[in-house]
Amino acid sequence: MLINLAEVYGTPLYVYDGDLIVKRYKELFDFIKWSNLRIYYAMKANYNIAILRLLKEHDAYLDTVSPAEVKLALKLEYSPDHLLFTANNLTEEEMEEVQATGVLFNIGSLSRLRKYAKKYPNSKVCLRFNPDVVAGAHEKIQTGGNLTKFGILMQDVPKVKAIVKEFGLKVIGLHEHTGSGIKNTDKVFQSMKNLLSIAKKEDFPDLKFVDFGGGFKVPYNPTEQRIDYLKFGKGITQIFSAFCEEYGKELYMCFEPGKYIVAESGYLIVQVNTLKNNRGRLIAGTNSGFPQLIRPMFYNAYHHVLNLSNPYGDPKRYDLCGNICETGDRFAEDREIPELREGDYLAIQNAGAYCYSMGGIYNLRSMPSEILIADGKPKLVRKRMSNEELVDYIIDVSE
Ligand code: LLP
Repeated sequence: MLINLAEVYGTPLYVYDGDLIVKRYKELFDFIKWSNLRIYYAMKANYNIAILRLLKEHDAYLDTVSPAEVKLALKLEYSPDHLLFTANNLTEEEMEEVQATGVLFNIGSLSRLRKYAKKYPNSKVCLRFNPDVVAGAHEKIQTGGNLTKFGILMQDVPKVKAIVKEFGLKVIGLHEHTGSGIKNTDKVFQSMKNLLSIAKKEDFPDLKFVDFGGGFKVPYNPTEQRIDYLKFGKGITQIFSAFCEEYGKELYMCFEPGKYIVAESGYLIVQVNTLKNNRGRLIAGTNSGFPQLIRPMFYNAYHHVLNLSNPYGDPKRYDLCGNICETGDRFAEDREIPELREGDYLAIQNAGAYCYSMGGIYNLRSMPSEILIADGKPKLVRKRMSNEELVDYIIDVSE
């Protein structure tokens, strides 16, 4: 199927398995048994509109982080009350633009809280706290502790209360997000407990929900073991149900997974076009590059590579490179792959989350087309720009 799509649509090409996206989304409800569970898909992971539409069919909520994300979601007819807006370091104009849509703000600094409260007294808000737990697959994607720009410190609850009181705000939600790709589930439990320890009825009497962010890890390397999500889900429910009992009300429990829902669904199909032997170091060049999938270069992330055209070839070790004028432009280093031949199609796996969405047109190469397979049927869901269109776009935006 993947080779066939590569031949029909050309490469590089993003392909997503829509059935797997739906499966991953739905299974969260099996793992986390809580009748008032809401899953806010973190649309920054992949905002392809076909994926957003697919999840909407299943009544997903969305975690949004920019005015345009909010506008895109609303245009796709997500209702404003299905969105949470978690932005950081907003401008005043952005705050006004989003506030006008009626979407709930998740505010992560005392400074923004004060500005928001002054402008919109008596409104409802959600507050983002720093959970004081450091976890995540790479230091760039850890969002708790002293080194992060995110969230209000838990010790600042008295300051929060003063602002809330002065402007008559109604805090209906509390939020934390610890990091992305969290391996150690105990860290998630700890973050939950930390946030819940400040969610006291006397301090926050109007709570409707608590949102514990995203971060659910999926295996990227086939040798990695999958987290036991059933067990994890039980732990989560236990903590939350004990809290609700103490709080005296069954609140909504929210999560905001991005990677968990879409990472495994995606493949970037590339084609080998140049082989080189640097005194024994095998260098394989492909027709894509880091602007189209930056995670290996940016986070040292492992993405498994399949040789679709020669799956049973003798394994050899390669540096798998792209077509960009930078030495660091590698998808994999010294990686064992079944023998590569010029013309072979490769599938870079786990390319559904933070791959296309973090992409760009560096070196003036257009982002690839995207295909979504749903109910076994592939559909072109975004077309790459031709070189002429790309040039016109550059001229358009600069004139
Ligand atoms: N909620 C908030 C407030 C977030 O900041 C994020 C991710 C999520 C939810 C979703 O996290 P997830 O479930 O996808 O781990 N580009 C990086 C990941 C950055 C995540 C940023 N925030 C990567 O490719 O690994």
